[in-house]
Amino acid sequence: MISCCIFDLDGVIVDTARYHYLAWRELAAELGFELREDQAEAVKGVSRMASLDIVLRAGGMEGRFSDEVKMAFAMRKNERYREFISKMTPSEVLPGVEDFLRDLRANNIGIVLGSASKNTRAILEQCRIGLWFDAVADGTMIRHGKPDPEVFLKGAQMVKKDPAECVVFEDAAAGIEAARRGGMRSVGVGKSPLLEAASMRIESFEGFTFGELRRKLD
Ligand code: BG6
Ligand code: MG
Repeated sequence: MISCCIFDLDGVIVDTARYHYLAWRELAAELGFELREDQAEAVKGVSRMASLDIVLRAGGMEGRFSDEVKMAFAMRKNERYREFISKMTPSEVLPGVEDFLRDLRANNIGIVLGSASKNTRAILEQCRIGLWFDAVADGTMIRHGKPDPEVFLKGAQMVKKDPAECVVFEDAAAGIEAARRGGMRSVGVGKSPLLEAASMRIESFEGFTFGELRRKLD
């Protein structure tokens, strides 16, 4: 039985992964190295500070900076990222997402957002999609980032759903693992080969229906 769908935000509802990458790349350039897009794949789904460590490692700079300096780096990256998201519009909601949410609503399925991002609220408002969600669990409410299941369990708890009845939609390996650890099934969204651990996969939401989800997972 499926009674609730929990959605990651970045890379599932909107394509902010691109903005995260561009903002990290600018920080890397300031530090004197080039961050390639494939190196930034690993920041998908993980918290801001854990992402910074991944970026510094890509530049061979891990362990070089104090926590204070690292906080300043993360803040600088976030300022740049906020500039990108302040220009986002509803047209950036990924194809098929709203039709799928409408389908879930028609089937009386809980709709929850579960994102590591502390910028979740700003993005939902900017893209005018916040009203779809019965509950929003985000990076401001949790202590442990993905692959820890905390954000998904928190989301399920907010709508009083049993994790076994929840399906998580994720574009990142860390999120698929978080769903598994939380006792939830998962749908890997996108083409990344890193999503093979998901219960099922879709390339995008275009043409995807709740009926298909139920047929495949129930
Ligand atoms: C996740 C992104 O959703 O949020 C990560 O996939 C990002 O790339 C993380 O690092 C934290 O986001 P923010 O907006 O709090 O810096
Ligand atoms: Mg994501």
